[in-house]
This record gives sequence, C-alpha cells and structure tokens, in this order.
Amino acid sequence: MEFDAGFHDIWGSLYKAQLSQIKQYACSDYLLGFEQLELPADHIPSLEHLNDRISPRTGWRVERTNVRYTDAVPWYHKFKQRIFLITDYMRSWEELAWTPEPDMFHDIFGHLPYMTLPHYTALQAMFAPAFLAANGKQREDIKRLAWFSTEFGLIREAGEMKIFGAGLISGRAEMENVIHGNVPISDYTIENVINYDKAVWEQNKILFIIDSIDQLKAELRRYFDPIRAGEDPRIRHVIS
Ligand SMILES: [Fe+2]
Repeated sequence: MEFDAGFHDIWGSLYKAQLSQIKQYACSDYLLGFEQLELPADHIPSLEHLNDRISPRTGWRVERTNVRYTDAVPWYHKFKQRIFLITDYMRSWEELAWTPEPDMFHDIFGHLPYMTLPHYTALQAMFAPAFLAANGKQREDIKRLAWFSTEFGLIREAGEMKIFGAGLISGRAEMENVIHGNVPISDYTIENVINYDKAVWEQNKILFIIDSIDQLKAELRRYFDPIRAGEDPRIRHVIS
C-alpha cells in the first residue's frame, strides 16, 4: 500500500519523539520486541517488513484495514485466526502528542513489537475465545480487561513501574502524565478492573499495574475459564 509523503513525515516525527521515551520507560518485553521488529525511523513499514519479522516467530500475521476503528466482534474474529489488524488511518499534525482514536502509529509502534514474542501472543490469544463465547455484559468486561492491560497497563520490573500498554507507548502526552505520577494506579485484579469505566475520548483517570505477563494471564484465566465452561464469572467475582 502506498501512502502520501505527509503520512511518512508524521510517522517520522512520532517515531523520533517516542524513541527516547520508550528507551527510558517501556518494559523489557516491549524493548526486546522493538529490537526484533526493526521499525524504520523515517517511513511507514510495509506489511511484508512486518510479517517477515512477526510470522516466523509467533505465527501471527498482520493485515491492513481501511476501517478507522474496528468493532470488537470482527476484531476478535480476526484475532482467533491469529491476524492482527492495522488501520490505514493516521493522526494529524495537531494530534502528535495525543489522539483519542487508535491510528496506524498506535497499531504498529504500540502493539506490533510485542507480536514477535511467543509468550505475549499467547496472552493475546486468550481474549478471542472468551470474548466470542461471552454474553453482552461479559463482553464489556472483557473489553475493559483488555483496555487496562494490553492497551493501558503498567508493569512492575525490579521494583520499578514500567509502561506496558500499547496506548501509552504510542501516546506521548498520556505516557508523560503517568510517569510524572499524575494518574492513580491500582493493582490489576479482575475485581478492580471490571468496576471501572474505560475512557475512550479522554485520558484515563485511573490505571492498573501487573506484576508480570504470567500474573496477568493467571488473572484473566479466573474470568475467562468460567465463560468458556458456560458459567457466569460475574457471579463468582462481583457479587461476593
Ligand atoms: Fe490498541
């Protein structure tokens, strides 16, 4: 796919601004994936570049979509096939530091480094089967559990807080806000997370921290396993 030169310029600016941020603040898994993905600094990478580095490592594949913000149902149907959709939409010059809408910089720079890591794609693979088996209320919970982990989660590493979620990694203003201690942070547990509403059109008012990807997987299993067995996890976790 060919993009306007202006899109490549925006990519270059965003890349440059985020590089020093991620080196200081992103978690070690992200940084390993970032090295493996070898993103170009001055132009939007091709699908071939991305898939050449992702598919041999994890079996996942990247596809483009011209939908600006894909709905959860088609999104998770793709996830089930180990396909990660990236949008063709790119934020404007006015939105460099923060955009409420996930654009291709968010999708590629924020998410895709992780998709080179098998223990991370195993985490992503947990969401689709649970989501597709869930009822309406449970689906809202699952979206929230994803939002506050893979999108906006934090992680503890050697006693320090590091940035984990792709939305923070690709969003300079919100990342700085979090790093400067302006956002309250709670432990990531099912009970804590599903009781908060996610913010879509503004920055998050609260964020959650995990101990490790393994801890996050164990926590999600508490909610996902009953759904896959046809039970309602809200009965166990919320009304107790
Ligand atoms: Fe995202």
